[in-house]
Amino acid sequence: MDRTFVMFKPDCLERGLVGRILTRFEEKGLRLVAMKMLRISPEVAKQHYAEHVTKPFYPGLESFITASPVVACVFEGPEVVRVVREMLGATSGLKAAAGTIRGDYSSSRQMNLVHASDSPESAAREIGIYFQQSEIQTWDPTLACWYQAPDEG
Ligand code: CMP
Repeated sequence: MDRTFVMFKPDCLERGLVGRILTRFEEKGLRLVAMKMLRISPEVAKQHYAEHVTKPFYPGLESFITASPVVACVFEGPEVVRVVREMLGATSGLKAAAGTIRGDYSSSRQMNLVHASDSPESAAREIGIYFQQSEIQTWDPTLACWYQAPDEG
């Protein structure tokens, strides 16, 4: 079972879209194994977005990501990194396909509602920034057997 890090960004909380978007992940059959609400500090923002710190848009990104609380999650599932990225759509809500989360709810490059890891390596790094191992649950939902065949997991 693979893991990915997902973060509902400040625009998602301010617009009251957390429940609606979380529902899409739950209905897809992804397994929620960790969740917390927090306010990102400028230090954590620089750690999380280390690859973007030198980019021209970084100051605006840091102001945005620290402006209001976020909800951080970990999901498990087969190929979950790719599956979640495809559910989100392109980075810019202006370019994301209709039917994707950003395509349906965002019209911004920066305010694109949800962050998700872009590789298993990024997922491991990002999960480590936000969660202790003890905060991640190991559990088998009762209905898991109705979402995938035993040889698919
Ligand atoms: P995310 O998937 O969290 O990864 C980096 C974030 O930087 C991205 O979503 C956007 O919120 C933001 N971002 C990426 N490109 C731009 C850009 N050109 N201008 C402003 N913000 C951007």
